Amino acid sequence: MNNNRKILISVLIAAGINSSSADEIKDAGPGLGHKASPEEIAAWNISVFPDGEGLPEGEGSVVQGEKIYQQKCLACHGENGLGATADQLAGAQMGLTSEYPEKTIGSYWPYATTLFDVVRRAMPMTAPGSLTDNETYALTAYLLHLNNIIGKDDVMNASTLPKVKMPNIDGFINIYDIEEKQK
Ligand code: HEC
Repeated sequence: MNNNRKILISVLIAAGINSSSADEIKDAGPGLGHKASPEEIAAWNISVFPDGEGLPEGEGSVVQGEKIYQQKCLACHGENGLGATADQLAGAQMGLTSEYPEKTIGSYWPYATTLFDVVRRAMPMTAPGSLTDNETYALTAYLLHLNNIIGKDDVMNASTLPKVKMPNIDGFINIYDIEEKQK
């Protein structure tokens, strides 16, 4: 028997030995990837809904948020959130109906809870997912305060944040029945 044949036969034997486990994989699906572990699912399962569902424990204040903003956000979003290389996060003077509408958190976003979700999952752009829940609450509080939506002494957490009413809430068709909770 030449060497190529030997290799072919051993490959076939190896395939035969593994055929039962291969069948099991086929039964479970297309046989790609691996089953997501509970840790992997938890890391992806971080959506926060408009009514606040999904908000974690913890809290943060405007004052705490300002400090974190200076360290982790200022470089791209500028002093007082007025914008630099990245989006303006506050201070829209022109509103939405001018020739150059300014879509900021204060002028445009319908739900305060979305801010927590976006910041936690996507910012800072260079290290998304690196903020703790407390830091995210604090940054959310600071950005809401910069937009004159909450007071300087307000603290954001899973119960206060969903109650914040955004100025442009009526600029959208409200598909979620959350008005009761905002009263
Ligand atoms: C390296 C630059 C950079 C840093 C640092 C950074 N961002 Fe951003 N950010 C961006 C860019 C670019 C966008 C627009 C693209 C996008 O939305 O993904 C953005 C978008 C956003 C938005 C959405 C704005 C909108 O109206 O759509 C928010 C809110 C935000 N950033 C908050 C933060 C906060 C809070 C921090 C600090 C923890 C931060 N960012 C740090 C670059 C940055």
